[in-house]
Amino acid sequence: TDFTETTRDVVVIGAGAAGLTAANELRKAGLSVAVLEARDRVGGRLWTDVIDGAMLEIGGQWVSPDQDALKETIAELGLETYSRYREGDSVYVGPSGEMSRFTGEMFPVAPETEAVIDELTQRLDAMVAEIDPDQPWAHPNAAEWDTISWDAWLRQQTDDDEAVRNLAFATGSAMLTKPTHTFSLLQSLLMAASAGSYSNLVDADFILDKRVVGGLQQVPVLLAERLGDDVFLGQPVRTLEWSDAGVRAVADGMSVRARAAVVALAPVLYNRISFVPALPRRQHQMHQHISMGFVIKVHAVYDRPFWREQGLSGTAFSPYEVCHEAYDNTNHGDERGTLVGFVSDQQADDVFTLSAEERKTRILESLSHYYGPEALDPVVYYESDWGSEEWTRGAYAASFDLGGLHRYGADLRSPVGPIRFACSDMAGAGYQHVDGAIRMGRLAAADILAQVRS
Ligand code: FDA
Repeated sequence: TDFTETTRDVVVIGAGAAGLTAANELRKAGLSVAVLEARDRVGGRLWTDVIDGAMLEIGGQWVSPDQDALKETIAELGLETYSRYREGDSVYVGPSGEMSRFTGEMFPVAPETEAVIDELTQRLDAMVAEIDPDQPWAHPNAAEWDTISWDAWLRQQTDDDEAVRNLAFATGSAMLTKPTHTFSLLQSLLMAASAGSYSNLVDADFILDKRVVGGLQQVPVLLAERLGDDVFLGQPVRTLEWSDAGVRAVADGMSVRARAAVVALAPVLYNRISFVPALPRRQHQMHQHISMGFVIKVHAVYDRPFWREQGLSGTAFSPYEVCHEAYDNTNHGDERGTLVGFVSDQQADDVFTLSAEERKTRILESLSHYYGPEALDPVVYYESDWGSEEWTRGAYAASFDLGGLHRYGADLRSPVGPIRFACSDMAGAGYQHVDGAIRMGRLAAADILAQVRS
């Protein structure tokens, strides 16, 4: 088969939100680009598909009010947003397995537990306010906070198990999607700081505010359209040769020579590329301490949003359930009702030891604890399984394991010769979100432009 050799000013590796943003910024500034994408589609962790007749957002979908970079991009692309359905009561399942309704952010727990959650939330907000999400390692307590696990720190503060579980899951199962003993207090504070505060993170009306009509994957799809023939699909980059003079990216069917490269992959995939010469010692070490979280996004579509008839918003939480959180995820203008639930970290490992049929039963049973028996019979059922995707390997995103953030964090964005790295998983604001991917894409492009113009 034909192998094409081409030359551009910059080669961008990865057509996710970060890579496509970088490529567009560089093109706007007058540089020529080529984007090489491993998959046969653009968007990476943003992917809208039709499954058994239902339009589902298999990857990222929500937009929150602080995500200015994403909001600017959505507006600039002419996309419309709509609010998540949120009329009515939320539900909570406590340690006894009993469902109770509530409104607002505080779970319906015993008054003593509520007091503990309140007090610790205030303390966490104060700690988060001291953290610069672009450099959490610069905090005077960074080493101390990065060498104790999130779980251990919480358990030092209180022996109220229900309070610990509810506080833990906002950054644990719900965000970093790793067991809370595997990442640090500092990592948890970074997650909260990247969204403005710990309180913002636990406020579903904030963090899961809006969706894009037609799906969030339209952001990368439209960004790619602007680049036209400069986006090459099905071209996994296998080798990246680099020197002060520039780079040569070698994919399966083509190679691109350029003055600079933007490597816009999840950091856990860097070692899929042979760097020639090898990356420096620091990168070799650092990249081994970053790992992907793991969560199953479960989609259940019903002939109608039946929970609304019971006065339920669809919002549901429980640190005791297989599905630790679930929401009304009905598409804009759709008569059918969709629920989305999340099964995270250890729970996700556990259900993947079951057969597909048993797993579905277990997960739907968990949903029925929130919404009643009607939840057991969806017309469409689908599990987003990003752990099986070769070019992602988990969900939602990558983070440092215990102790890595203060040890290596400052070097994660450092360029290596003509190579820049960009990904949501190294962002400050918008960390692990599309907003952060866009910010990192912009930053990589700005760095390259500054160098080119100097
Ligand atoms: P991303 O991983 O998207 O892109 C990297 C690209 O590089 C991919 O297209 C990949 O195929 C490609 N690639 C990898 N190796 C390659 C190689 N060797 N050569 C060429 N190409 C290569 N965020 C949010 O804001 N709101 C939300 O609601 C959610 N929810 C959510 C749910 C689920 C299930 C997931 C998986 C994720 C989310 N997220 C989210 C997170 C959000 O989707 C994510 O942070 C960004 O889309 C990441 O964009 P990047 O461009 O940084 O990486």
